[in-house]
Amino acid sequence: MNVVILAAGKGKRMHSDLPKVLHPIGGRPMLSLVIDAARALSPTRLVVVYGHGGETVRDAIGAAGVTWVLQEPQLGTGHAVLQALPHLDPSRPTIVLYGDVPLIRPATLLRLAEMAADDSLAVLTVCLEHPKGYGRIVRVDGAIRRIVEEKDADDAEKAIREINTGIVVAPTTALQRWLPGLSNLNAQGEYYLTDIVGLAVAEAMSVASCQPEHAWEVEGVNSKRQLAQLERIHQRNLADALLDAGVTLADPDRIDIRGELACGRDVSIDVGCVFEGRVEIADGARIGPYCVLKNSRVAAGATLQAYCHLEDAEVGPANAIGPYARLRPGAKLGTDVHIGNFVEVKNSTIADHSKANHLAYVGDATVGSRVNIGAGTICCNYDGANKHRTVIEDDVFIGSDTQLVAPVTVGRGATLGAGTTLTRDAPAEQLTVSRAKQVSIAGWKRPVKQKKG
Ligand code: UD1
Ligand code: CA
Repeated sequence: MNVVILAAGKGKRMHSDLPKVLHPIGGRPMLSLVIDAARALSPTRLVVVYGHGGETVRDAIGAAGVTWVLQEPQLGTGHAVLQALPHLDPSRPTIVLYGDVPLIRPATLLRLAEMAADDSLAVLTVCLEHPKGYGRIVRVDGAIRRIVEEKDADDAEKAIREINTGIVVAPTTALQRWLPGLSNLNAQGEYYLTDIVGLAVAEAMSVASCQPEHAWEVEGVNSKRQLAQLERIHQRNLADALLDAGVTLADPDRIDIRGELACGRDVSIDVGCVFEGRVEIADGARIGPYCVLKNSRVAAGATLQAYCHLEDAEVGPANAIGPYARLRPGAKLGTDVHIGNFVEVKNSTIADHSKANHLAYVGDATVGSRVNIGAGTICCNYDGANKHRTVIEDDVFIGSDTQLVAPVTVGRGATLGAGTTLTRDAPAEQLTVSRAKQVSIAGWKRPVKQKKG
């Protein structure tokens, strides 16, 4: 079938310079979610009608296989679909979606499409407690006769609680017949797509309807409040999917997934964690409270304690990370690596069984196995103009408060004494220490405060 997504409208009530359909749900522009739902139908043609926000919308989405059609000016939903008509396959029916109704489920669309069959119209409707603002479904003896917009409705029509969600399937050849002849003689001076229902009835074409399983599927975003509500629903849906797959969540209402989170078996995630981009968590890994993980991988059996921050990082098997660890892009950790509080790792590999437990900066470093990096160790990787690498070979012990002025290599099995500022390579197996000799001055007295006046 053909899919047309309407996304030209303005979104004035968002009070934002960002075009409405680009506001994110789950970290992605809401239009991208609608395009995903459309794709699930394997459409023959997928057309997005854009207008307000212009090329910004098109450039931000950049989806392959989408035909972009500019609607300028925006004269109503009927006018919008008319712009898409030349790009549709007339031998297949057309389903119309809204770019600002982001949580629609493909299963619902498939059900609606089946109802439309070859020669009829199908409208997705829903009954609302408060139908104000929506187009109402007017039925006679149970059969749909037409749709009347709120602004054109009389009091009896306004009392109707069954509303038009806007999502509709129609034979494309019928759209070709009807759309060019729509009138804009109505309260809003717009070409209403909803008028096709009356036109179908006039031709004795059958008009079917069905309802979505959940009301949130057809809720639109017109304000930041509605955006926030749908965000919570979307997050809860993602959390439920994780629970269904066997992931333990301390509280499914306190997790935020802004991208794709793939979990193995027996993964547990504590409250307040944020996942961005593509994140993978392997079997048995445990994520403590309030961690932020972006485009990262956590291998099997690893533990992240509270408040860890990971970006483009790889945590190795059985690692113990945090609390308060920061793994920046290019951090790659081997097996059984320990990274403790206030340790920052960037663009560095740390091999098996090595530890940096407290207050350290490991940047642009290659660290071997069984290395112990003492508290306060700093890789001085930047000379103000260029970055240089530090190499720390296997079985090295680095005393506390050591500076490694890169480029520099610490040989296998070497020990660096606490407080060393290493500016030349440290030979293997030896103790290297650079600090003033300790002296004690006998009989030394502290100065005393002099009396004034
Ligand atoms: C529309 C329906 C109404 C339905 C409601 C559901 C019509 C005439 N009315 O009303 O029956 O209950 O949606 O939310 O269809 N758009 C364009 N180009 C335009 C106008 C709109 O692309 O020229 C897009 C908007 O970006 C939006 C969608 O179409 O995604 C609906 O437009 P909107 O102005 O919100 O329609 P409503 O008046 O709410
Ligand atoms: Ca609307």
